This record gives sequence, structure tokens and C-alpha cells, in this order.
Amino acid sequence: MKIYIFDGGPRKGWNTAQMCGSFARGASEAGAEVETVRLYDLDFNGCRSCFACKLKGGPSFGRCGWRDGATDLLAAASQADGLAFASPVYLGTITPPLHAFIERLTFQFISYGKGYPVLSPKKPETAMIYTMNTSERYFDEHYECADGPLAFFENFIGRAFTKPERVCAFNTYQFTDYSKYDAGGWDETEKAEWKKNEFPKELRAAYDAGARMAEKIKAKQQSA
Ligand SMILES: Cc1cc2nc3c(=O)[nH]c(=O)nc-3n(C[C@H](O)[C@H](O)[C@H](O)COP(=O)(O)O)c2cc1C
Repeated sequence: MKIYIFDGGPRKGWNTAQMCGSFARGASEAGAEVETVRLYDLDFNGCRSCFACKLKGGPSFGRCGWRDGATDLLAAASQADGLAFASPVYLGTITPPLHAFIERLTFQFISYGKGYPVLSPKKPETAMIYTMNTSERYFDEHYECADGPLAFFENFIGRAFTKPERVCAFNTYQFTDYSKYDAGGWDETEKAEWKKNEFPKELRAAYDAGARMAEKIKAKQQSA
């Protein structure tokens, strides 16, 4: 039972990485083999529109034909039982490396043929992990819309694979020392309280989501 976590955050050890770590622990304690990949460490870009994945009879039909730092991972992800995609929210959406990776991973499988058949060899369980500065309320009112950018990525993942479970951390703590930064827009004491009291619950929710994904995969494998 193999689960990949694609961490689309640039900062090691910060909020997104910690959410990934909790998800990974939940999944591995439920019996999965988990591999976390930091996308900012790879050398790759988004789709080049070469259309090798759509070339009839071509050697890369239904697979991304562009070779770079994402190639091996795209192949590995296509054979995985579970996929989790994590990102800090930047300008209301996911970070560019995660955007590029999801673009390459899903586009290869979404055929241009009649009825747009889906060519993915497996239907892995999926999850999206977001961390953001804003509150849950603002997220619900502004980011959580059916035709917004986050839903757009989730829809493509749902078409290529399975509908993703969503896990969020809100009101994240962004600096080690707020007093050193131009950050007067926030109340540092309130942020610190949230980090102490609420972030652990969000980490726990990520742990539970990881365990749930592993349990779902187990149940699927047993019934196959
Ligand atoms: C370039 C940039 C853009 C951001 N845009 C948003 C945003 O649109 N909405 C939001 O809630 N937070 C935004 N944030 C805050 C981060 O999403 C948030 O602090 C996140 O938890 C950081 O994750 P990390 O600690 O793993 O780096 C932004 C941060 C940066 C650096």
C-alpha cells in the first residue's frame, strides 16, 4: 500500500510540512508505506503542450512525454494507491510547483477523445492539504466556491482519480518573531494562541485523514 505526499510548500518544517508530517504518520501507523516529496527541491516545469500524451499510437500516449525532474515521479504517482497534495495558499490558490505537478499528472490521463475518457491506470485515494493565513470563515466565504481555483484543481484530480478529501490549517503562524517583520495587520498574541490551541487540532485532523486514506485503501484491496 503506497501513498505519496507531494508537499508544494517552500519552507521546510513550517506549517505545510508539519501537516504533511502528521498525514504521513497517520497513514503509516495505519499500515501504508508513505513517501513525502518536496516539490520545491525538484527541477521541473508545467505542461509544455507537446501533446505527446495525445499522439495516436505514439510511445507516450496517455503518459506525459516531457522528460525532466518530474518524469519519474509522474510515473510513480500513476501507480500509487494514495496521493496527497499539500500547499500553502498563495494568492487564493496553490503554489506554482504544485500547480505544475497536478497539471502534468492529470492532463496526461484526460483524453481529448470522444466523451473525454479517462486513461489513468489506477484510481488512487486522494487528499488536498491547505494551510493559510486567513480564517476558516474567510475561506468559506471567499475561497470555498465551486468555480474557484481550489475547486478547479480538486475537480481535475476527481476526474483523473477520485474526489479528494480536504484538510486545512487556518490562521497560520508565519514568522518566528512577528516583531521583526512588517506584520502589524495581525495580532501576534492572537496568532500565538491559535498556534498553541488550534494548530494541534488541525495537525490531528491531518493525522486522521492520513489514517482514513490508508484504511480506505486497505478496504479496497481486501474487496478486490
Ligand atoms: C506569496 C504569499 C502569498 C500568500 N497568499 C495568501 C493568501 O492568498 N491567502 C492566505 O490565507 N494566506 C496567504 N499567504 C500565507 C500562507 O498561505 C500561510 O502563512 C501558509 O500557512 C504558509 O505555509 P508555510 O508555513 O508552510 O510556509 C501567503 C503567503 C505568501 C508567502
